[in-house]
Amino acid sequence: MSFGFAQNETFNLTMSKNQLLEFYDELDDSVLEETPASQKQVFQKRESKKQVADAKLFVRAQEISREFKFTYKAARFEEAWLLDSLVQIAEHQWISDVLRKVKGGKEASVYLCTPGAAAAARSFLLAAKVYRPRMLRNLKNDSQYRAGREDLDESGNVIIDDGTLHAMKKRTAFGEEVRHQSWIAYEFTTLETLHAAGADVPKPYVMEKNAILMEYIGDKSTPASILNAVNLDPDEAQPLFERVVCNIDLMLTHDRIHGDLSAYNILYWNGNITLIDFPQVVIPSSNPASWNIFLRDLTRICQYFSAQGVTCDARAIAVDLWTSHGHKIVQEVHPKYLDPEKVEDRQVWKEVTRKK
Ligand SMILES: Nc1ncnc2c1ncn2[C@@H]1O[C@H](COP(=O)(O)OP(=O)(O)OP(=O)(O)O)[C@@H](O)[C@H]1O
Ligand SMILES: [Mg+2]
Repeated sequence: MSFGFAQNETFNLTMSKNQLLEFYDELDDSVLEETPASQKQVFQKRESKKQVADAKLFVRAQEISREFKFTYKAARFEEAWLLDSLVQIAEHQWISDVLRKVKGGKEASVYLCTPGAAAAARSFLLAAKVYRPRMLRNLKNDSQYRAGREDLDESGNVIIDDGTLHAMKKRTAFGEEVRHQSWIAYEFTTLETLHAAGADVPKPYVMEKNAILMEYIGDKSTPASILNAVNLDPDEAQPLFERVVCNIDLMLTHDRIHGDLSAYNILYWNGNITLIDFPQVVIPSSNPASWNIFLRDLTRICQYFSAQGVTCDARAIAVDLWTSHGHKIVQEVHPKYLDPEKVEDRQVWKEVTRKK
């Protein structure tokens, strides 16, 4: 089987439905390996309908690929979902080519794209953030972030339809799909709000199904570094720290907390910073855990900038910002808001326990 985007490679359009299902079985096997037998049956039944739907989509994606020949050659598994995720964006002429993968992450991969006729800023490069398919994503506990957030549909509008809300509550396959979409929609609508407000975030262009298209930070050969990988000059550390704090302040003005802010989710390019990665954004006015999450964001930021020679007290800054926006301080950081697998969270916990 061939799934190539490459100029001289064509998709095998004679692939039978059975072959397509085999392809999806391969994908599923990797998910099922560690699942107990009883759960496997339930899981397989639920997924079989989805596999047929995905197989149809896959055939459609192959057909469209005859029109869109991208420079980037993805690995086999990646290619099916990449094409499926980007067809609408390419079809609507937002992009004319996918040049390469900038970074593959746990939740999403980011690709460097050239703009198409529909993108107003034709001289800019674009970044397509493509989320991993729901069945392959590690749908980690997102409830702490979703608390107090209304769910959004694929157009970024609040979902009010009772049937859809019920499906989400019951966690049906359809409900899970909507939940996944809402997660992406929060990233896009937050970028829209913050960019319009003048925050240092990439300009968002369009959200289509499984992908977000935004301004790319970097140049054709080199993407921006994450701040964590950069050692700042002594004279730029302080102003950049203040800039990050200004952005955090601006987010509060728009009733938003990043929720996963650290030097890993800030890009550094030509002496400027850009905040990225917003799907878990928290609404401070309606999320009971918001103070904890806010303090954690500030603590992680101060950890990086302290190491760069900036004198900063995360708690004092957090209290100041938080109360100046009329919020109340409710409780200290609780371990359930920390991820033991993250080095920076382990440090936060050390800090917290040291102060007690
Ligand atoms: N607009 C952009 N311009 C240039 N590079 C970008 C852009 N957005 C994201 N990236 C790159 O892609 C990486 C992943 O993006 P992002 O943090 O939004 O996704 P993620 O799912 O959280 O991935 P990870 O698990 O690696 O954090 C970033 O660390 C950065 O290197
Ligand atoms: Mg990230």
